[in-house]
Amino acid sequence: MKITNPFLQGPYEPLRNECTIENVDVLGTIPLELTGTLYRSAPSAEFLLDDPNRFHWFDGDGMVHAFRIENGRASYRNCWVETEGLKVERSAGRQLYNGIYGRSEAPQKPLPEGAPEIKTVAGINVIRLGTHLLAMHEAEGHYWEIDPVTLKTLGTFDFDGQVSGMLTAHPHFDPATKEWIFYSLDNEKRSLTCFTADIHGAVTSKFAIPMSFTPWNHDVIFTAEHFIFFFGMISWRPYAEDRIPQGKSSWFIDPAAGTDARILFVHRKTGEALWIEPENSPYMIGHFLNAYQDGDKTIVDASATPVSGALKTFNPEDFYPFPLVPGPAAFENPQLWRFVINPHEGTVEHHRIGDFSAEFVRPNETIMGQKHRYGYMAGAHDLRPETRGFNCLVKHDYEGNVTRFQHLSPDYDMTPGEPVFVPHPDGETEDHGWVLAVWYDPRRNASELVILDAQKFDGEPVARIRLDHHVPLGFHGNWIADC
Ligand SMILES: [Fe+2]
Repeated sequence: MKITNPFLQGPYEPLRNECTIENVDVLGTIPLELTGTLYRSAPSAEFLLDDPNRFHWFDGDGMVHAFRIENGRASYRNCWVETEGLKVERSAGRQLYNGIYGRSEAPQKPLPEGAPEIKTVAGINVIRLGTHLLAMHEAEGHYWEIDPVTLKTLGTFDFDGQVSGMLTAHPHFDPATKEWIFYSLDNEKRSLTCFTADIHGAVTSKFAIPMSFTPWNHDVIFTAEHFIFFFGMISWRPYAEDRIPQGKSSWFIDPAAGTDARILFVHRKTGEALWIEPENSPYMIGHFLNAYQDGDKTIVDASATPVSGALKTFNPEDFYPFPLVPGPAAFENPQLWRFVINPHEGTVEHHRIGDFSAEFVRPNETIMGQKHRYGYMAGAHDLRPETRGFNCLVKHDYEGNVTRFQHLSPDYDMTPGEPVFVPHPDGETEDHGWVLAVWYDPRRNASELVILDAQKFDGEPVARIRLDHHVPLGFHGNWIADC
């Protein structure tokens, strides 16, 4: 069968080898102050579907990639996250599971007794919580703990059984209160639960909110007072008997729900829920950059994907937080938006920033939940005829309203993943530090970790750490300074 699926080729091609590379080739000079590990998470696929052209980028198996930096040198290691579903397929020696987000159009194959009913991907994010390095998906009631050095899967992590439902892959840390902010969804029981946990991962509060619908929700943001959610038009039921077992995507459109966004504020101390339903709001939020309170207003910066077209033309499987899908699609390219909300008056205003596409938005996270000046993201700007996906990194200065772009190669498109801001150990200003991102070079069919001076964002990179193989374009990761 000829493989035409773009998510099995080029920068997305699954990587199946696990390897360790000491002393990776470096162009430039890695700052001596930079000591730690950049962990990245990406889906790969150990076994392909019977019809690989039905493979969805969000499915497959999770893999963690680690770039360790010390004394101006870099090493690299990658390793699968060994989920129960992957073990089941390894025992069978072939693909057994239908995907979660894509659709196989074939009934679920028989599974061995005791096997999990769906195979989660553990390929969205990797975060250190307390002493635990955790790989994450969003359809399980636990994370996967991995060894920070060997990257081997050690077991599961479930907050000592204090959580249930489908845990988000986007927990956030509030540096002001030293709390973790996260949530779980139980779309079969129609419930959302907001959690806080202390710095060690002990759950300190939980508030259950009844839900009248079954959203796919991917991120949460917070201010000093609230958890904030933006629910979009995609419904999600990965445990429904009439979805994945029938070869359908767990994503679907509920015509009764319409296309407008629904915004939920949950008070962090009382659990009080405040719903806002702005009219004429056909957009999806992919990720939040940050949020903060400004008097009686709440500012939310995010990447937003406008939706257009008649509802019957929407195909949720075409939703990618990425300007890639060619041809007409109900989902436009993601954009950088600022929301100004008065939660008590129920007013919501928003405006777009710039004319570029933007996703994988990140701030300097040492000030998350408080007013920020800068945002970093993957972008698409100065497009070429052959541009597919992101071709630059973007730094936006909200105070000066200045946007800077880093294309890395002036001659052709290289494709960056999510940028991660690493503060300088002696950093005194918000952008004193480095921006780290893994870029794919189509001319080498290989990837490199590029270190930018955040204050000279569009200048020459500080260092380029060049692998001879590609790291599949994935989603999220984090810098752990003392790993
Ligand atoms: Fe995400």
